[in-house]
Amino acid sequence: MGGSVCAFLTLMVLCTTLHSTTADESYSDGASDEAPMDRAEKEALYSAIRGFVGDWWNGSDLYPDPCGWTPIQGVTCDLFDGQWSVTSLSIGPVHDNSLNCAEKPIFTPYMFHLKHLRSISFFSCFLKPAQTLPSDSYWDELSGSLESVEFRSNPGLTGGIPASFGRLLNLRSLVILENGLNGVLPTSLRSLSSLKRLVLSGNRFRGSIPDSFDAMPELLILDVSGNSLSGPLPPSIGDLISLLKLDLSNNMLQGKLPSELGKLKSLTLLDMRNNKFSCGLTESLQEMESLEELVLSGNPIGGKLDTVEWQNLNSLTVLDLTGTGMRGEIPKTFLRLDKIRFLGLSNNNLTGNLPQKLEALPCLSALYINGNNLTGKIKFSSEFYRRMGRRFGAWDNPSLCYPADELGPTNSPYRVSPCRHEEEEKKEMLVDSIPRRKLLGSGDGDGDVRGDSHFLHPLGFSTNGVDGLHHCNFWVDMVMLTLVMNYML
Ligand SMILES: *[C@@H]1O[C@H](CO)[C@@H](O)[C@H](O)[C@H]1NC(C)=O
Ligand SMILES: *[C@@H]1O[C@H](CO)[C@@H](O)[C@H](O)[C@H]1NC(C)=O
Ligand SMILES: *[C@@H]1O[C@H](CO)[C@@H](O)[C@H](O)[C@H]1NC(C)=O
Repeated sequence: MGGSVCAFLTLMVLCTTLHSTTADESYSDGASDEAPMDRAEKEALYSAIRGFVGDWWNGSDLYPDPCGWTPIQGVTCDLFDGQWSVTSLSIGPVHDNSLNCAEKPIFTPYMFHLKHLRSISFFSCFLKPAQTLPSDSYWDELSGSLESVEFRSNPGLTGGIPASFGRLLNLRSLVILENGLNGVLPTSLRSLSSLKRLVLSGNRFRGSIPDSFDAMPELLILDVSGNSLSGPLPPSIGDLISLLKLDLSNNMLQGKLPSELGKLKSLTLLDMRNNKFSCGLTESLQEMESLEELVLSGNPIGGKLDTVEWQNLNSLTVLDLTGTGMRGEIPKTFLRLDKIRFLGLSNNNLTGNLPQKLEALPCLSALYINGNNLTGKIKFSSEFYRRMGRRFGAWDNPSLCYPADELGPTNSPYRVSPCRHEEEEKKEMLVDSIPRRKLLGSGDGDGDVRGDSHFLHPLGFSTNGVDGLHHCNFWVDMVMLTLVMNYML
């Protein structure tokens, strides 16, 4: 994102400088003060835009000098052999004065006549069904120039991805986000060897993920979340050696987590939530040494937590294993996750005690262990409860209790029973006389573990200024930045 902002600003400055230079020269020559532009190029620009915004739009009237003194919002130009050409086209309500789309926008062939077009972007333009993307031969005209293709929030765009997208060999960014596209993912995309960002999320793609990532060594972001993809995750995923972010969440992917994931040494985010992965955790997860967020919740993975040597993942800030069918004990290796902020283990089949030393994790600000079969006494200090507040969930562990007599009444964990002998001793004094729910100042704690809301808690926490957590704020900020960047990307 930062890069493209800089590039954009540089371009702006450059354009302005270049333009004023040409303008000055023109004046001194006594020639036309319009930026020199090929007539066919200008006409193609006007006609392409008319297709999208409607016939009322008269470009030659409104913007006689589109690369010069009458710039069009969403259109940028550059000089090629002394002539101005259009390099990027952005359609849709991004700014107040953006080019907004007609009720029935259409792709005309003219856009494909813009020989130097590097970037196209359509935001919230195709709203009503059903418009399909132009067919293969059109895209081939731009195969030498296009670097960035973006369709965002166009629910009226249906049909598949044209196979010719695989021939846009200079493509660095392909973003098809929240449209109505469907069909299977074309295997031709494997030819896009310069691709850095591939985002296909929030469409209706189905079928399996093609096993063809071996030819995309520069890919940094792969996001196919929120589709209906099924079948296994192909082993060639491990060939994406530069990958920083992998989001496969909310699909119907199944089978084993491929051990090749361990080859993704740069990966910082792995989100596979809400799929059908099974067959246990794979040991090689521990080799993803840069990993900061690992979200596997909502998969029938099964097996034991100690399959993975968690201490190797010492950059982890978010580990979400909610509802993954995990058995066995909470492993000691968790105690060495120094940067962990969010640890979600709810709704599994975990047994044994809750390790007291989790309290010593310096950044921990949310811990959910509810809905398991943990046993014994919770030994956390009252300081721990003060720090965590509602972000500690331990309910629905029938044999887990807390020592009511050692803690102040305000520090009791939500819906956890006091330990037996203390209950008898202190019954009248403490336990029954105080409505615990009110003291916690919380409503129904169950809401905390559902859906994606957990990301909000750790983030919100940074503003609380709770003692002893200041040195963690850097990470909170970093994660917040990452999240914001992810959405902007
Ligand atoms: C745009 O306006 C000009 C002058 O007003 C006119 O000559 C031209 O035919 C119009 N173009 C279109 C496509 O309507
Ligand atoms: C825990 O294990 C039992 C028996 O194996 C099973 O019936 C139950 O569904 C499991 N619970 C969860 C939350 O996985
Ligand atoms: C919980 O664990 C105990 C033994 O530790 C076992 O007897 C009981 O059946 C388990 N409950 C569930 C729901 O798995």
